[in-house]
Amino acid sequence: MNLPDLNIAKMRSHKENQYINLKENYEAELKGKKYFLRTYGCQMNVHDSEAIKSYLETLGLTETLDIEEANVVVLNTCAIRENAHDKVIGFLGKCKYLKKNRDDFKIVLAGCMSEQPDFIKEIMTNHPYIDIIIGTHNLYDLPKLLLQEFKKQVIEVYSSSDEVIEGMNFKRDSLYTAWVNIMYGCDKFCTYCIVPYTRGRERSRKLESIIKEVEDLKKKGYKEVTLLGQNVNAYGKDIGESFSHLLKCVSKTGIERIRFVTSHPWNFTDEMLKVISENKNIMPYIHLPIQSGSNNILKRMNRRYTKEEYLELFHKIKEAIPGVAITTDIIVGFPNETREDFEETLDVVKKCQFDGAYTFIYSKREGTPAALMEDKITKEEKEERLQELNKLVNYYANKNNQKLKNKVEEVLILGVSEKSHTKVYGYTKTMKLVNVSGPKSIIGKIVNVKITDTKSFSIDGEYVEELVK
Ligand code: 5AD
Ligand code: SF4
Repeated sequence: MNLPDLNIAKMRSHKENQYINLKENYEAELKGKKYFLRTYGCQMNVHDSEAIKSYLETLGLTETLDIEEANVVVLNTCAIRENAHDKVIGFLGKCKYLKKNRDDFKIVLAGCMSEQPDFIKEIMTNHPYIDIIIGTHNLYDLPKLLLQEFKKQVIEVYSSSDEVIEGMNFKRDSLYTAWVNIMYGCDKFCTYCIVPYTRGRERSRKLESIIKEVEDLKKKGYKEVTLLGQNVNAYGKDIGESFSHLLKCVSKTGIERIRFVTSHPWNFTDEMLKVISENKNIMPYIHLPIQSGSNNILKRMNRRYTKEEYLELFHKIKEAIPGVAITTDIIVGFPNETREDFEETLDVVKKCQFDGAYTFIYSKREGTPAALMEDKITKEEKEERLQELNKLVNYYANKNNQKLKNKVEEVLILGVSEKSHTKVYGYTKTMKLVNVSGPKSIIGKIVNVKITDTKSFSIDGEYVEELVK
């Protein structure tokens, strides 16, 4: 579907975050209480959770990792596949048990599941002990709702809005790398995907607000920002802006590393490629979901490109950005995907030799067009295809990683390695995770690392020197 380029800039309402003004009223009620937050799903949710934390802590709550001592439990949910839904339902059982006979224990359901009418009905019927259901569009109402909850027991259901909130506060998980939302929602309506229904239509943040946020982060010492959107190349269409112009402006702030996710192959412009290749602080890493290699399936997915067009774009990116790493998303087992269709996907993987791929079995989402499509492929067949695909994907990921052996790479060190507490970890410019032998004093810095060993998912290296920039 090709949406007309409506000039709706004047209609877009950009609203400044207002909860801070109400802070004083809340503080007394909530001070000393503890919250437990669990996040499911994508980077967008991880970043929303940073906003949730900021709201709760500004009101005087402190975080606990032990759910039994919590007064407020927030589940930031994901709806993209069925297993995400099942995990939340499983976890609610535990919450129900903990809530028994306690008036000071509140359960908040946030995130994409709260935007699904069928799910809300399910909650109202089967899980009436939940106190607040809050959508993805009005997180800023959380303090108000919470205060209300500690006074009286009601369920508030909030639905989509068309607003774009500027000036939100976040309690960021890292001191060195930060997510920056540039837009909300998605208009692409891929037939399998629930996102356009749970996150609403595409809405861009104001360019000046984004730049100010990046400048503030830089002042605070952040080395890297990742610009976030379901479909970043659509940035600005609703406000007379463009993603390539935004990238240029973000680059001018001088922040050391700029990343962005997710790019859609449709509308990936030459201008974007030019800006990326001309600005050294825009990282040579592109996440470019293909979903399937079969033209028949791509059409039924409403992806708006063919296998050939994807391959052409892929090679154009490789040529324009030397050393670029490209990763992708692939779905197997879309309704009635034939063996031939699947082999087309394998063929694309062989041709592109991706640096990595997130692979999924198609999951039926009620309310999407694909949920109505006939599907004769068995679960076993789908699982076998996934395994076959994963083998191939890992083979190329490994092969690409091996090319780095003995090379010196610039790595932004983010913290102590989970794998070995004597090591630190960080990411190369191309977004490869490296476990580094080196002192903890290099955390937060961009350093040279000599790569000593490589595997499909991680790489080992040794600290060589700090980069002074
Ligand atoms: N089933 C399986 N995978 C899905 N994705 C989105 N919707 C579904 C679905 N219904 C995958 C796509 C997308 C990624 C974020 O999740 O590959 O790019
Ligand atoms: Fe979903 Fe397609 Fe939008 Fe991505 S581009 S969020 S897969 S509808």
